Amino acid sequence: MKPVLVSGVQPTGKLHIGNYLGALKNFTDLQDSGDYRCHFFIADLHSMTEPFDPKEKRRQVIELCADYLAAGLDPSQSVLFVQSEVPAHSELAWILNTITPMGELQRMTQFKDKSLRQEENINAGLFAYPVLMAADILLYGARTVPVGDDQLQHLELTRTLARKFNAKFGKTFIEPKGLLTKTPRVMSLKDPSKKMSKSQPEGCIFLDDEPDAIKAKVSRAVTDSEATIAYDPERRPGLANLLEIYSALTHLEPNAVAAEFAGENYAELKRKLAALVAEHFAEFRAKKRKLLASPASTERIFAEGSKAAAKTAGATMAEVKKRTGLSG
Ligand code: AMP
Ligand code: TRP
Repeated sequence: MKPVLVSGVQPTGKLHIGNYLGALKNFTDLQDSGDYRCHFFIADLHSMTEPFDPKEKRRQVIELCADYLAAGLDPSQSVLFVQSEVPAHSELAWILNTITPMGELQRMTQFKDKSLRQEENINAGLFAYPVLMAADILLYGARTVPVGDDQLQHLELTRTLARKFNAKFGKTFIEPKGLLTKTPRVMSLKDPSKKMSKSQPEGCIFLDDEPDAIKAKVSRAVTDSEATIAYDPERRPGLANLLEIYSALTHLEPNAVAAEFAGENYAELKRKLAALVAEHFAEFRAKKRKLLASPASTERIFAEGSKAAAKTAGATMAEVKKRTGLSG
């Protein structure tokens, strides 16, 4: 049997090129490799830990479903589903909560960052977020979890919980490993010391951005005042970030991209990069527009995927209930 692969993204707004190069592009490449039994889901329960408008939530879910399909995820090759439509995620998360030390959760960088960002709403869900994430992964017996590097700490906790559960109740879960892309951390165009994040939209290139917007954002990207183009992430992080994005979209190494632009100025690099990004996502934009114009088929695809996921996850829950003594 091929190894199982699981990953998800939260429906909290538009995807940016960091989400794409750190995660979504890898999802489609891994799916197309044929080497895994892939499961990709919409982490809508996770997204409730941040402030949201209930009138918007379903639309955000459907938009992310359309993002998945437009990027090339294919229901004939991968199980595509919505987290909240598979009750086992919440059930297993509760059981895992009971073996999770508070101290482990207190160390989580994402919890600390988000607590600073949303001081008015430091809810218990935000705190227990990584436990739900562990449930997402363990339910399917995943060995491989493609994510950006900000999620590795959560995966470490997933492994800890799998080990703890197995030690206490008998071998049930597989310890998963993270899988990073070559660009696990795309930096903000506005501030290359910070990762690209939708909490700072000025520094993001969104996958839906039209060519003019892409051009404007790339041309304003913060670089440095040196005259030559060279790949030096330590000393010249802004320029290195642009070369890495270029590299990820062309499969040339960043040094080779720098060599290609030797003797050119920043304006030329930015012009070519903007054109490359605009062209790369042209098909994505068109497909997504079409999917959102008649969302019924997208909804049907994810409803079917959710049924299939619920079957697998339900079988794991039955075993968990036996092992923990909840069922006979
Ligand atoms: P999120 O929007 O936080 O649910 O992130 C979705 C996926 O994108 C996760 O796998 C993140 O690790 C990844 N990701 C988010 N921001 C970046 C970034 N700036 N660079 C690379 N990957 C990212
Ligand atoms: N926490 C992930 C993020 O913010 C999303 C996510 C939730 C996830 N559950 C997961 C990713 C399980 C991989 C596997 O990006």
